[in-house]
Amino acid sequence: MSEPVAARMSPTGALQVILAPLRGFTDAVYRTVHARHFAGVDLAVAPFVVAAGRRATLKALADLRPEVNPLMPVIPQVLGNDGDGFLDLAERLAGLGYRSVNWNLGCPFPMVARKGRGSGLLPYPGRIAAFLDQVSPRLPVALSIKTRLGYENSEELSALVPILNRHHLEALVIHPRTGIQLYDGGVDLERFAACREVCHHPVVYNGDIATSADFRRVSERFPMVTQWMVGRGVLIDPLLPARIKQMPLPDDPAGALRSFYEDLTEAYARRLSGPGHLLDRMKGFWRYASLGFEDAETVWLRVRRAKDMTGYRRLAAAIFADCPLRRPETGLTSQAL
Ligand SMILES: Cc1cc2nc3c(=O)[nH]c(=O)nc-3n(C[C@H](O)[C@H](O)[C@H](O)COP(=O)(O)O)c2cc1C
Repeated sequence: MSEPVAARMSPTGALQVILAPLRGFTDAVYRTVHARHFAGVDLAVAPFVVAAGRRATLKALADLRPEVNPLMPVIPQVLGNDGDGFLDLAERLAGLGYRSVNWNLGCPFPMVARKGRGSGLLPYPGRIAAFLDQVSPRLPVALSIKTRLGYENSEELSALVPILNRHHLEALVIHPRTGIQLYDGGVDLERFAACREVCHHPVVYNGDIATSADFRRVSERFPMVTQWMVGRGVLIDPLLPARIKQMPLPDDPAGALRSFYEDLTEAYARRLSGPGHLLDRMKGFWRYASLGFEDAETVWLRVRRAKDMTGYRRLAAAIFADCPLRRPETGLTSQAL
């Protein structure tokens, strides 16, 4: 069995760009095609696997098989609040060759939060303490956590940090919003700063970085942070990690993007069953990709109208030929995300 490119979350001291988990988007197909076309991503945290129900888990684990993750180093993410289920899944991930797992304490969706999972667990520090007391000494792999500032209010994480400080964590990834905010409103950099100061673990910043100008602004404010997780910004501009790292960019960005989306389409055509699923998947990407064009609305309307894959392929080619890309430094704000 081949080994997955198993990543660790601990900082190296160098600037690191981490691809965020985006369920429905940054799966093994996307990660592999992105790594084949563009530089800049050091590692990815995979979208969550639920630590419950063996059948569902098996399906989700298929995306973490080493053979479908040949290029981009990956850390699997687990969603759940049951220590035994988490440990069971961690064993299986270790069996696949992984050396680190990420615990999802950030998912804001009411269906998840209501069950006391994801950010829905943040108001219960006692339950988190009991979970970590059970899990962390028995884990066969390293642990990191991805979280929000709280579920209902942004003070919950501050109350939790002393508990997190008692355990060995590779890193704490903070998306500075509350769960009930979903993706509305701004990120709270003051609270991020306050949590980072009292946290003994390396802290990774995540949230609303859509351009290299966004990155400069936040990184100037937090020069001590070396690890940056980016999600939707990469869907909008797949060159964002390379821009953040000031790496050389393709001479013809539109051509490079066109070839990336063509490969992505063909890779999903091999993975998904039937053209309807494929069309839906590609339209999902274009919801974000259209924001990378000057006239985002027109681009999105054109793609949305595609009725079949022949029409979609023709449209995508025409868009890259006719529609100017947004200048990378301009225009996008967190509202656009
Ligand atoms: C469609 C979608 C799916 C997501 N799936 C996950 C997930 O599986 N696990 C997770 O921890 N966060 C998930 N997130 C949250 C992102 O990882 C990230 O924290 C959030 O989008 C903020 O970062 P960004 O502004 O760079 O996108 C998801 C977000 C979106 C929009």
